[in-house]
Amino acid sequence: MESHEFLDSAFAMIKDYVLDNQGKVNQHIEPSSRSKTTDTLLPLEGFSQEMLLEDVSSYLQNTVKTHKGGFMNPLWGGFNAASFAGEVIAAATNTSMYTYELAPVATMIEKAILKRMREYVGFESGFGTFTTGGSNGNMLGVLCGRQSAFPNSTYSGIDGTKLAIFVSQESHYSVLMSANVIGIGHGNVIKVKCDEDGIMIPESLDIEIKSAISNGLTPVCVIATAGTTVRGAFDPLKEIGEICEKFGVWYHVDAAWGGACLFSAKHRFLMDGVEYADSVCWDAHKMMGVPLICSAFIIKHPDILRAVSSHGDSAHYLFHDDAEEIDLGRFSLQCGRRNDALKLWFAWRMMGDSGWSSLVENYMDLASHLEGLIEQSDELEMMSSRQWTNVCFRYNDKSIENLNQFNSELRTRLIENGNFMISKSNIGNDVILRPVIANPAVEKSTLEGLVEEILQIAHEMKSGIPHS
Ligand SMILES: Cc1ncc(COP(=O)(O)O)c(C=O)c1O
Repeated sequence: MESHEFLDSAFAMIKDYVLDNQGKVNQHIEPSSRSKTTDTLLPLEGFSQEMLLEDVSSYLQNTVKTHKGGFMNPLWGGFNAASFAGEVIAAATNTSMYTYELAPVATMIEKAILKRMREYVGFESGFGTFTTGGSNGNMLGVLCGRQSAFPNSTYSGIDGTKLAIFVSQESHYSVLMSANVIGIGHGNVIKVKCDEDGIMIPESLDIEIKSAISNGLTPVCVIATAGTTVRGAFDPLKEIGEICEKFGVWYHVDAAWGGACLFSAKHRFLMDGVEYADSVCWDAHKMMGVPLICSAFIIKHPDILRAVSSHGDSAHYLFHDDAEEIDLGRFSLQCGRRNDALKLWFAWRMMGDSGWSSLVENYMDLASHLEGLIEQSDELEMMSSRQWTNVCFRYNDKSIENLNQFNSELRTRLIENGNFMISKSNIGNDVILRPVIANPAVEKSTLEGLVEEILQIAHEMKSGIPHS
């Protein structure tokens, strides 16, 4: 079989896969039986292309169908044809983003996107880079904070144990990983109190910073979250920014999940004050639906990013003086780096700013519809106020003794049925169910189907019907 025929057949299967929005999201199979039926053998002699096509087909059949409407589990999902094309083209034109010489148009595209995102954030000037995700975007933010506080640290190193990072109690776990990697340690990540809606309390931040300083710690970074992972809460960015200014601490905003609100005239108030930040991370692979990974890190002070990414002139085989101003590799912690901007660029060309705005507003309307369905039901209850498209709720009925166990089991049965995937989390001591709307295939009828199935499962459980 020629490569032409192979690619035609493989692409036909891929196209059928991504354009099929019917049927189940997942076919639940226990890991123990899957390991018996899945062939992962790495052969000593290569397979024929016909056999490879069977592998393509079998792989596609056995995935979780993250593009289907019932998929509302993590903060991403769905399918966007333009960005999919961008992903394929990035692979086909396989290059690395470190130099203009190797990625001329891609460099211009990445710069254009970073500029536009920076403008949305409200920085008059600045720069940025694409990272391997919001987690590393947060780490880069902390590293820039360290660089700002200790300009010589890239060269002379640092004992991070006397530094402190401040985040809300509901911040993403990646901040702990950053503290670990940078040598600050989990113990010096100070978790600032949140109010009952999961929003950081600025007065508590002020108190925590003062107390850390009096205990001999140097604050290097405050991270506010714009869209927390579980509840979708937005910390008060302006108030936090004023506190950072007062103490002269680096201010990073984790907008990995909530950044897209900036497109919507109606919802961008959620991030009022983001312009106070020194750096921001914003995942286009979350609400904007670009295939994983596509994550921007935006900074007000390009020199700091450059210093953090500095490697002297040891990479003389790659970077040359005449291209100093244009090579993006001087602003990244990576050497080889995927062309992640291309898929976002294609998507943006297709959607336009107005398309992004409608996407966000449609998701918010859908989230509000789901919230309405929950509130109308006597058996379901909202477990947190809603600012974004995270809908936190649970099944509740006075006759149930152990609500946490009941809701956990309910979700397990829902996942095993295969029509929907939603996440389970904790708020305080309570187990909650948390669908999020971040998938263009979700419609009002999808949400109505979800509520109906949840109620049906709950009724079966209460009647003692075992799960089949
Ligand atoms: C608020 C927040 N920040 C950061 C991250 C990490 O993003 P990534 O998965 O792109 O590393 C997440 C992931 O869900 C998140 O919810």
